[in-house]
Amino acid sequence: MIRKKLIVGNWKMNKSGSDGITLTREIIEAVGREVAVDIVICPPFTALESVGHALEGQTIKLGAQNMHSDKRGAFTGEVSAEMLRALFVTHVILGHSERRTYFGEMDNFVSKKIRAALAAQLRPILCLGETLIERETGSTLAVVQRQLDSGLREVSKDQITSVIVAYEPVWAIGTNKVATAAQAQETHTFIRVRLTELYGTALAQKVRILYGGSMKPANAPELLAQPDIDGSLIGGASLEARSFIDIVKTAIAAG
Ligand code: PGA
Repeated sequence: MIRKKLIVGNWKMNKSGSDGITLTREIIEAVGREVAVDIVICPPFTALESVGHALEGQTIKLGAQNMHSDKRGAFTGEVSAEMLRALFVTHVILGHSERRTYFGEMDNFVSKKIRAALAAQLRPILCLGETLIERETGSTLAVVQRQLDSGLREVSKDQITSVIVAYEPVWAIGTNKVATAAQAQETHTFIRVRLTELYGTALAQKVRILYGGSMKPANAPELLAQPDIDGSLIGGASLEARSFIDIVKTAIAAG
């Protein structure tokens, strides 16, 4: 298999340091030394350090949910890529639709963050996806292409395999309205084709494209069986050890 599956837990604004350690220990006990899939957990900033300690010596990696594009300075409430690196963070979610919708993040800012993450040796998880109205008006692929092209605007051929793309239809996030496997695969194929146009076949085949939006143990097998779905970005179902571990195991079985 050219692309190892990747399962990312996005805890959003949930779990204090001590709650985070408890959840992390449960995950470690079940899949802490797993090598058949890659696993990343993304606690809120305040739990990064304690969860990072709990992950020492494990194969599970630590991710952040956001960062600023500048290295330092007068940006109240923000953190930089280097600050994350100092906490042994390896991945960072960027351009999540909640950042775009509630905090006004525009494509241009997201693309600066992607560049800054790569410059600091962090692996960005670039999120993109259409709203319900965009899907209903037939502009899904145009929106996805705009967000993808903009996010990757300054990403070179040498860097592209460090980027992870996450397709997250906004109407499916936290709503229990999951995209069908066919809907997700269609968009993932479109993203792969666009990556091929931008970077060539060999590199495009190596980039992992995750699906996110109400993935649960019950719908994970069908989604993770699709040829271009290389893993998942999981919100709600990552807050409970059993459901997260179930999805990790499904990814292992899917190969
Ligand atoms: P959800 O969130 O699994 O709760 O839908 C996914 C995400 O926003 O990353």
